[in-house]
Amino acid sequence: MTRSNRIHKPFKARFALLSICAAAVLFMVHCSGADAPVFVQEPLPYPQDALAPFISADTMRLHHEAHYGGYVKKANQLAKGGRFGGNGPEDLIRAMAGDPGRKALFNNAAQAWNHGFFFKCLKPEGGGAPQGILAERINASFGSFARFKNAFLSAADAHFGSGWVWLVQDGENLAVMTTADADTPIAHGLVPLLAVDIWEHAYYLDYQNRRGDYVRSVLDYLVNWDFVAGKLKNTQESGAGN
Ligand SMILES: [Fe+2]
Repeated sequence: MTRSNRIHKPFKARFALLSICAAAVLFMVHCSGADAPVFVQEPLPYPQDALAPFISADTMRLHHEAHYGGYVKKANQLAKGGRFGGNGPEDLIRAMAGDPGRKALFNNAAQAWNHGFFFKCLKPEGGGAPQGILAERINASFGSFARFKNAFLSAADAHFGSGWVWLVQDGENLAVMTTADADTPIAHGLVPLLAVDIWEHAYYLDYQNRRGDYVRSVLDYLVNWDFVAGKLKNTQESGAGN
């Protein structure tokens, strides 16, 4: 064995070992979800016909499969390979908010998030007035549930074009607000508690141009107040919104 071989053989072995390790790390990063979709289309928490007659099965099928599914697919396509300052959908939405160069990604990402939230705000045999701490917070912020309901319906009626009506936690208080198109309260540092989609695709098959009747039906018969109360509880426990 020459002196040269004695030097190079261990070096080659170490280099080969390092190469194998590097490949293994890259493989593990890939498999651990570095390229995994940011957004997941969540299943409806009830059958498509469960909200009839207030929202038909045809509307729910189109809304959940075509519209929501389309936003999720497009958002993941646009987000692929990017790094957005965090790990979750909310991080991506906050990072893209107000960036005119990433408007398409923000719109699809926010719509994907808004729809996932919205479908969970509904349930069969829901609606009416909430109970417990949520009712107390609504009374403290609006004066009464009737005043909250009037504020929510008025906001929906006054909103021009496509968008969303929300009940949000804003500091110490609850507030009603609308957002235009895909915009979402989480892009503004607010905590969503309840959402109602007022894009035409959400109601036109069932209500045509009677958007106010659709929003009133949601409040009277479909809101899942347990879900809303759960969001409020999470907000209080985490200190978010204060
Ligand atoms: Fe929608």
